[in-house]
This record gives sequence, C-alpha cells and structure tokens, in this order.
Amino acid sequence: MKKTLNYLNKQEKLTMITAYDALFAKIFDDIVDIILVGDSLNMSFFGESDTLSATLDQMIYHTKAVCNGAKSAYIVCDMPFGSYETPKKALESAIKIYKETKADAVKLEGGVEKAETIKLLTQNAIAVVGHIGLMPQFSRSEGGYIVKGKDEESKQKLIEDAKAIEEAGAIMLVIEGVKEEVAREITEIVNIPTIGIGAGRYTKGQVLVWSDMLGFFEEFKPKFVRRYLNGAEIVRSAVNKYVDDVKMGKFPSEKEIY
Ligand code: KIV
Ligand code: NA
Repeated sequence: MKKTLNYLNKQEKLTMITAYDALFAKIFDDIVDIILVGDSLNMSFFGESDTLSATLDQMIYHTKAVCNGAKSAYIVCDMPFGSYETPKKALESAIKIYKETKADAVKLEGGVEKAETIKLLTQNAIAVVGHIGLMPQFSRSEGGYIVKGKDEESKQKLIEDAKAIEEAGAIMLVIEGVKEEVAREITEIVNIPTIGIGAGRYTKGQVLVWSDMLGFFEEFKPKFVRRYLNGAEIVRSAVNKYVDDVKMGKFPSEKEIY
C-alpha cells in the first residue's frame, strides 16, 4: 500500500534512503518509508565531484525510474541547483516535476531565505521538504562541506530556519551535518518530522545515500556513514570470477547453451 503523509506522521521513527533507478528502488520499496531521489546522484551515479551541475531533466529522468520501481514508498525528488532561485522559477520547476513524475514531494535547500518559495509551492498544491544545515549546493560558495550549529549564532540561525520552513508549510525537514544537540532542539521545537543525516540520534528519522551505506561509493566515507555492505568489493569479486570463467573456458557451460 502507498505510504501517505498521514502514515508517515504516525510513525515513531522514519527511514529514508536515496535511490536513482528502478532496480534499487524496487528493492528498497517495501523496506523503507521514504525514497529520496537526491541530487547526490550527480556524484554517485554520474561521477561529478559535487551536486551543482545536476539538471532538472536529469532529476526528472531518475525520478521517473524510481517511481517505476517503487510502489509503496513515499517519494521525494530533489530540486537541483539553479532550478529554484526565485519563487516563480521554483514553482515552474516543481510543477514540471509533479507533471512529469509521480513524486510525492520536492526537496529544496535553504532556510529563512527560502520561506517565501516554500509558501508559494505549498499554496499551489506541491508538498515541500526543507533541507538545512550542511547544504551540498552551497559547497562551492562556502568552500567545502562544513558542519553547522557549532556556535550559538549558527545554532540560532538553524532554529530560525527550521521555524520559518515549518511556518511556510513544509511537510518535513532534512537536517544535514549539524551538531547533535542542535538537531535535537529543532526536532523538539518543530511539529513536522525531522530527518537527519550526520545530525545525531534525536531526529525523527534518518537518511543515508544508498551508495554510501552499501559501500559502492569508495572515494571517501564521511564519519556519519555506516557501511552495511561492502558493495564494491562484492561486485568486484563477482565480476572477477566471471572474467576468470570466460578466460578459462568455464563459462558458458553445457547447461547454459542453446
Ligand atoms: O541528495 C541527497 O542525497 C540528499 C541527502 C543527503 C539528504 O540531499
Ligand atoms: Na540533495
């Protein structure tokens, strides 16, 4: 059965994982509550060094694939960098996502500055997930991936951001790369569910990028990632076996021919 917002709001803890294609979306579908088609796909799937060059068409293509594979999870599509710099542009981009995919919600990065945008989308029947703290689309302008909430000023800014996002009508809030106590306080203050990534133990839910948590993305491993599988190693050894079999004339066998 399709997981609705009402269903999600009743859960004690929420689980979210990213997916970029139908194959993995289908595997994750029955297990997790929410699938995020994150713009992290630009790095993990497409091989770029950051998320900034992801395009709206790229996000739509992957979201279509995920929607083809997942029938019960709640599906969120990231709005890519440059698709929501004004409220009007954001609305056009979000409508395109809603029209061309079956995504349940869109996600965009930013706090107080994006409240007007979130409000406009919400008023136009688009469900919005906020994203505050470490915002990967700001990695170039900020000169890296910087954990937030380390001092009082940063903490107050995050709390104001969270309040503004809720007030604007967002249905959920992703908190990334934030000190645990700050994410905890935000989770206590707002009424919408918070989903943490590198934000400690007290958010209502957790999200991980599939290729990080399954060990396919080997370039680097942030502290907050737990590897549940050595995916790359397992695949490498399987492909090695295949190559050995072919070279030694062991594949195909008599059973595998017409
Ligand atoms: O793009 C992404 O995968 C994300 C998560 C890290 C929250 O935004
Ligand atoms: Na993202």
